[in-house]
Amino acid sequence: MSPSLASNRAAQPAVDERGPRKMMKAIAVFPGRPGSVHLAELPMPSVTDIPGGRGVLVRILRVGVDGTDKEINAAEYGEAPEGSPFLVLGHESFGVVEEVGARVTEVMAGDYVVATVRRPGMSIYDRIGTSDMTTDDVYFERGISRRHGFLTEHYVEDPEFLVKVPQGLGDVGVLLEPTTVVEKGIAQAFEIQRRLRVWRPRKAAVIGAGTIGLLATLALRLRGVEVTTFAKQPRPYLNSDLVETLRARYASAAEGSFLDVAAKYGPFDLIFEASGFAPLVFDAMQALAKNGVLVLSSVTGSDHKVEVPADRINLSFVLGNKVMVGTVNANREYFETGVKDLSQAALEYPGWLNRLLTHPVKGLENYRQLFDYLEHGQGVIKVFCQVAQD
Ligand code: BGC
Ligand code: ZN
Repeated sequence: MSPSLASNRAAQPAVDERGPRKMMKAIAVFPGRPGSVHLAELPMPSVTDIPGGRGVLVRILRVGVDGTDKEINAAEYGEAPEGSPFLVLGHESFGVVEEVGARVTEVMAGDYVVATVRRPGMSIYDRIGTSDMTTDDVYFERGISRRHGFLTEHYVEDPEFLVKVPQGLGDVGVLLEPTTVVEKGIAQAFEIQRRLRVWRPRKAAVIGAGTIGLLATLALRLRGVEVTTFAKQPRPYLNSDLVETLRARYASAAEGSFLDVAAKYGPFDLIFEASGFAPLVFDAMQALAKNGVLVLSSVTGSDHKVEVPADRINLSFVLGNKVMVGTVNANREYFETGVKDLSQAALEYPGWLNRLLTHPVKGLENYRQLFDYLEHGQGVIKVFCQVAQD
């Protein structure tokens, strides 16, 4: 069995040749049953679960939750692993290596690591290490689709799916997975814009000032771009302060529509849409500069309908050579650039990343509090579970 297939197995048996396994706690849902979040038990994994001496046993320290987890608990999304009645949640992991197999050279006990989310499927893109670009309809994502997630005590993984986090980023490493979504979107934009031979984006807009919008504002500021971040809520509040700390502009819907804001501060060479509200996409299409690129990252499960100025949008796209691209998930390349951006952010804007970690919840057993914050919390940027102390 290849390493990737090995770590793609659904679940560990509760009993094996060594007898019954120790059990550990996990936060799980019954996919398809709304509000089914509960405390489940799982057999404790072992480093030998991955063949060929390639196992890495990780003790989980922190796990972040986001809109995807909310949608899974609302039964709008999510699938259990084959043979399991439940799905363990959690895809934003952060942990410490506890033990490694004899043939692991990439990480050592004591290293901080974050696991990638998607596991390889069958498409050609999966086979070249870019499962984030899969064309398979059935796909595997830990904590989301057909593979258990990280809201538990330990996991075992092939080092192919682990990314080392520097010791100095220990307190903010849980932000790496959401950062990778931004890294991929921006990398896609730059990759596409190679068509222009020379592309020096000067003005960018970010739509949405939640975790992804804030991290996109950060990543663009680290690249020296002038950024306007547009969101619903009027300033000042924590999120607008965070935007302004990066010396980006915060513009709210109180100032006018996104098109009004674009007329004042645009047009934008790059727009990163992360508001979760799809009707804004059509405004963004109109606010894009000539040769501009619009990156869409919101996973929108609802069914909004809008009337749009179709000819005007089409004309501006045609006459302006514009591009729009969707982006989901991230492969390890973007986890690696994410680590670099988080490191640079820690140096350039000390304490900024820590301020995103607004709602800690101690212990897996407090899963109700975790979901209460996620669904109804005030002033929430990032809700996370402090699973264990370092
Ligand atoms: C996760 C991605 C995942 C996407 C779609 C997001 O919340 O961060 O890793 O690909 O949901 O399931
Ligand atoms: Zn997510």
